[in-house]
Amino acid sequence: MKRVLFVCLGNICRSPSAEGFFRKIVKEKGFEETIEIDSAGTGNWHTGHPPDHRAQAVASRRGVDLSDLRARQVSSRDMDYHDLIIVMDRRNYSDISAMAQSGYQHKIHYLLEYSEQYEELEIPDPYYGGVHGFDVVMDMIEESCERLLDSIVRP
Ligand code: 4NP
Repeated sequence: MKRVLFVCLGNICRSPSAEGFFRKIVKEKGFEETIEIDSAGTGNWHTGHPPDHRAQAVASRRGVDLSDLRARQVSSRDMDYHDLIIVMDRRNYSDISAMAQSGYQHKIHYLLEYSEQYEELEIPDPYYGGVHGFDVVMDMIEESCERLLDSIVRP
């Protein structure tokens, strides 16, 4: 069993989108019994809230239903429990790195590290922009999640 946690700031835009899309492809490829998936935010402002309606709309158009997800804040137990902690931007990386014991630093990766298409490292925060930003972010999430799955299941 491999346990993957996606982390962003609010857990209402990027990380639930990654969770929803990754769940979909993991299921399609038959790995749902071997990969456990969750998401969380470094901040606690949105705890208990469903994903942002713009994230839900963009994901829904791409066949991913985010409506059952609820935001929660990341905890130190997450560092222990998960094998991979996948962050979206440098702020997430430094916040998570500060929470994680030194033995767990190797678990922390940027989602775009797995991408073969995007040169940059950060998936930008779409919260204060328009709906177009959510489409851009979803493109990045989809491609890098496909590569992330390849990297986990590669023989
Ligand atoms: P996320 O986006 O980190 O992708 O979920 C954000 C959502 C809310 C806020 C910031 C980022 N906020 O400041 O409330």
